[in-house]
Amino acid sequence: MSSNRGLFITIEGGEGVGKSTNIDFIARRLKQQAIPFILTREPGGTPLAEDIRQLLLTPREEGVAENTELLLMFAARAQHIAEVIEPALARGEWVVCDRFTDATFAYQGGGRGIPMAKIADLEQWVQGDLRPDFTVLLDAPVEVGMSRASQRGALDRFEQEQKVFFESVREAYLAMSEKHASRYRVVDASQTLDRVQESLSTVIDEMIAKGKA
Ligand code: TMP
Repeated sequence: MSSNRGLFITIEGGEGVGKSTNIDFIARRLKQQAIPFILTREPGGTPLAEDIRQLLLTPREEGVAENTELLLMFAARAQHIAEVIEPALARGEWVVCDRFTDATFAYQGGGRGIPMAKIADLEQWVQGDLRPDFTVLLDAPVEVGMSRASQRGALDRFEQEQKVFFESVREAYLAMSEKHASRYRVVDASQTLDRVQESLSTVIDEMIAKGKA
């Protein structure tokens, strides 16, 4: 890798699109190629950020103000970047992150209706120049994802949202995939797992080629 810095890869998508299964698949492929990498997630990825995740996901009677939710997402992210993401990239390791700031644009922006410009200000403030090199968007119609997610047992605070919320989340993701087309790779997650992983393999090959460039 010319810069010696690892690649920063984020995996995004709505509920029930198969992120975990497909992240495992990506991890296996990177291992086979002997690429040093870490797997992490947001919100979370450090003990403090995982505590913030609990605060964010646990349903509670008290309403959670939109700005509280937004700032907690970025508080967890600031910790995650400082403690995990930046050090790994600097060591030359790839970082494969289950969700990152595009989830904030999709959920707090698209879903909650917070202005995208406000989120972009926080992005710049917390991250400086740090942006993903590749973002894989696992995209599926909302009904497909919601029915898969509902089979997992107790729903968290986001999973309890209504279909219209997830429609807005999906729309926001698709809009970002056009706006940031150079780093986005959209995979149709409503296909069979074999077909999804076939598409993912092409994307992984492209990442590996970029990592070696
Ligand atoms: P998940 O990663 O297990 O799907 O759970 C995380 C939940 O948090 C998911 O519903 C999406 C939501 N989320 C946001 O609303 N904004 C964010 O910035 C991130 C990272 C996640």
